[in-house]
Amino acid sequence: MCGIVGCIGKKDVVCNVLSGLETIEYRGYDSAGIVCRDENTQALVWVKACGDLVALKEALVEKPLHAPIALGHTRWATHGGVTVENTHPHFDCHHTIALVHNGIIENYRALRADLESRGHVFRSQTDTEAVAHVLEEKLKTTASPKEALLATVKELEGSFALAILLRDLDDTLLFVRNRSPLCVGLGEDSASVVSDMLSLDQSIQQYAILPDQTIGIVRANFCEVYNFDGSPCELVYQPFTWLGQLKNKKNYEHYMLKEIHEQKQVIIDVVKYVRTLGNNWYSAIGLQKEEIQKLESIFGVACGTSYHAACMAHQYMRSIAHIHSYAERASEFLYQPEMPLKNCLYYVLSQSGETADTLETLRMLKKSGQKVLGIINVPTSSMARESTGILHMNAGLEVAVASTKSFTVQVVLLYWLAYKIAQEKGLVDSFAVEQAENDLLVCAQLLDGMIDKYQATIDERATYYASFSKYIFLGRQESFPFAQEAALKLKEIAYIFVEAYQAGELKHGPLALVDKNMPVVVFSSLDPIIYRKLLSNVQEVKARGGIVIAFAFEGQNELIAVASESFVFPVVAVHLGPLVMVSLMQYWVYRIALSLGRSIDKPRNLAKSVTVE
Ligand code: F6R
Repeated sequence: MCGIVGCIGKKDVVCNVLSGLETIEYRGYDSAGIVCRDENTQALVWVKACGDLVALKEALVEKPLHAPIALGHTRWATHGGVTVENTHPHFDCHHTIALVHNGIIENYRALRADLESRGHVFRSQTDTEAVAHVLEEKLKTTASPKEALLATVKELEGSFALAILLRDLDDTLLFVRNRSPLCVGLGEDSASVVSDMLSLDQSIQQYAILPDQTIGIVRANFCEVYNFDGSPCELVYQPFTWLGQLKNKKNYEHYMLKEIHEQKQVIIDVVKYVRTLGNNWYSAIGLQKEEIQKLESIFGVACGTSYHAACMAHQYMRSIAHIHSYAERASEFLYQPEMPLKNCLYYVLSQSGETADTLETLRMLKKSGQKVLGIINVPTSSMARESTGILHMNAGLEVAVASTKSFTVQVVLLYWLAYKIAQEKGLVDSFAVEQAENDLLVCAQLLDGMIDKYQATIDERATYYASFSKYIFLGRQESFPFAQEAALKLKEIAYIFVEAYQAGELKHGPLALVDKNMPVVVFSSLDPIIYRKLLSNVQEVKARGGIVIAFAFEGQNELIAVASESFVFPVVAVHLGPLVMVSLMQYWVYRIALSLGRSIDKPRNLAKSVTVE
């Protein structure tokens, strides 16, 4: 959420900052800005524009910037509307300090009131600007930029990754890191400070993730870091190899479409990964064999799509591993009274590994003495580093804001984990685990074929599906969280209102909504008992003149007959129904959004990697 790119080099680095921002633009695309020092006047000069980076590039044509040191930011608005004034960088009163920020300064109102009472003039509505004015005062009252930064952070509450350019300090960038991620890269004659290592450029040879609660000073091939108490902090550098342009749409029209099609391969990759863990899987998840055998419950905490995967796991854990299972949204879990469970495996699920609520949950659980398994896609992320055990999602870079392949991989890993726990508890043998892995691979092989089968129909009928302003989605057992995930996708990229319900709940109220203007989409189950119950629920809808669109399985003829239209899927392992439906469901949503002319990869108001609570 928001992106920071600061570069130092021998020649012009404005283009490096711009291409760094492009790499992480999906994290925030409300507005963007770049600042550098004018080589002739030594004044700070900047360009800002509302909208995505195309707007900033156009503004840079009008007012070109060139300098060997520059700082850029792409914004997802939190405090203050999407305006040029609120776009980063922000400045002190005299434009001697330029500063970009990720996170939230929670006490900015008090700071601002205090600073204004002493004559500081603010130009924006942001929380960030207060920091520039605090630093302005501290630079006057302390002996060095280091001391000024240390004094500044003492005044700040909240989460903040800051990169700072001072008019009067040649060749240098300053930074602060508190709870929001930041990383430094060094090259022979260059250096970078970035919020995401994806945006490091080709000149960088080594990088380090900056530890929490640090400040620092960066010059070409030089970085000095201090803890908030002023003591020096050693960085652990890793070699950096630029992997070329990781963001590559290939021939797809959108990243989302590409990522939908990558799901077959990511399932294959993740099954390969768990197979290579062998007996190391205990240490991978951070538990001893005996601890797994004693497990009575499992508790998943996550946000958004990842939360839906945890809800699917809830079904798997109960029906396969026979343990109690809980799934909670991190934003709610964080503020509940602590009621630690005995013999419970806590886990967090996150594609980015940086989602603020989930990260805070991880930290809170660890503080209270729990081990926490992370199921994470980005291996360099804060959650990947801070979890006591980790299962890597291996899904590769996910660029589209709407998660697709990462959801699928999370479901795969949790299904596998349910079998591994069941095996440790003596409920199933190693052949059953192998069969489960093969069942996952069977689903992988079927995904693209389902799109091929229905693509023409969906493409042709997309405008019809898009003509409805609201939907109800139904499921039962594991097909309910899948219905919730489908609903989230349709809301998020098509901006259509959808309510997902457990089908059995319909008659307790929402059935009153059913009419010919609101289609009911039902996601069926392979469990024969659940299927029959679901069928009765669908009959209730049909009897009230509702339009039913069914995601059904071969042989479910009554459901297919009662539905106005159906997508029919091959029969797979009983709990894996959603996994064989996932690509087509996503494609169906994608086509609806496309026919409405939506911004598929960067839906309005959103950003990937939600690093504010
Ligand atoms: C929806 C979506 C979001 C994320 C949520 C958590 O398509 O992508 O709901 O799932 O913001 O993100 P991670 O998994 O990075 O913690």
